[in-house]
Amino acid sequence: QAGLKYFGSATDSPGQRERAGYEDKYAQYDQIMWKSGEFGLTTPTNGQKWLFTEPERGVFNFTEGDIVTNLARKHGFMQRCHALVWHSQLAPWVESTEWTPEELRQVIVNHITHVAGYYKGKCYAWDVVNEALNEDGTYRESVFYKVLGEDYIKLAFETAAKVDPHAKLYYNDYNLESPSAKTEGAKRIVKMLKDAGIRIDGVGLQAHLVAESHPTLDEHIDAIKGFTELGVEVALTELDIRLSIPANATNLAQQREAYKNVVGACVQVRGCIGVEIWDFYDPFSWVPATFPGQGAPLLWFEDFSKHPAYDGVVEAL
Ligand code: XIL
Repeated sequence: QAGLKYFGSATDSPGQRERAGYEDKYAQYDQIMWKSGEFGLTTPTNGQKWLFTEPERGVFNFTEGDIVTNLARKHGFMQRCHALVWHSQLAPWVESTEWTPEELRQVIVNHITHVAGYYKGKCYAWDVVNEALNEDGTYRESVFYKVLGEDYIKLAFETAAKVDPHAKLYYNDYNLESPSAKTEGAKRIVKMLKDAGIRIDGVGLQAHLVAESHPTLDEHIDAIKGFTELGVEVALTELDIRLSIPANATNLAQQREAYKNVVGACVQVRGCIGVEIWDFYDPFSWVPATFPGQGAPLLWFEDFSKHPAYDGVVEAL
């Protein structure tokens, strides 16, 4: 962990990771997650999202988010909090209403005030806006963008800055790990906020990568520097590197190289402050359900043996 502030792993709250057949795995899972010293930071993979925290308008529920937050505090972990304004895993009421701009502004302010207010002081960072961009760098047509345009991003950061002055405020997205039209879009967001005098502290590179077609070390370094040069910090926030299953010697070697490149790039660029994997245990990854035919994206296999990529990460740190 040489120059990094943390190496972390996200984890789902127990209430959401009850997978039939895994009851006898949790003891070992929890040992590695909380007690092995492998990780020093975590994020609830789901529990702080809008769907869980404000399922009905004005009705707040922190049960799921608290499970991981309380474990993190009990074990002395730092926490990244995720995510305040996102088009996905949004409560249905937000999407199914025809908002006037003023009403939707109130909805966003109220959500951030309650959720970031409730967790105030517990978050090293908040993902204030998640995945606002299309691949070509234009804005995604979310309910927020359709009603408010890019002003919703300003409003979200402005509000979060007031509610939790000490949390680092991040823009977070995927496919920002090598230079592209999308990284240009994310830079535009950083500049827009800074020009408006609104605080943004960081850009989160989700880093959901692919073993067989991964970027080079230099591509990662260029992308990361593109952000740090704007005066914001960078973190790898949801790192996983999927491969076409079954895992074999070839794709595991590619995965090892890919992990080494991306973690190494973060270590080598001043201003890239931390790395978090999106869970550590393959069976609990979101990848197989989301990308059919792909899997084994994390650092621990089903039987709790380590991937070759674990050594790639160790070499990079
Ligand atoms: C994923 C969770 O891991 C899954 O459990 C859930 O079903 C869907 O969301 N980008 C993000 C994360 O910002 O919140 C997503 O997490 C993965 C993609």
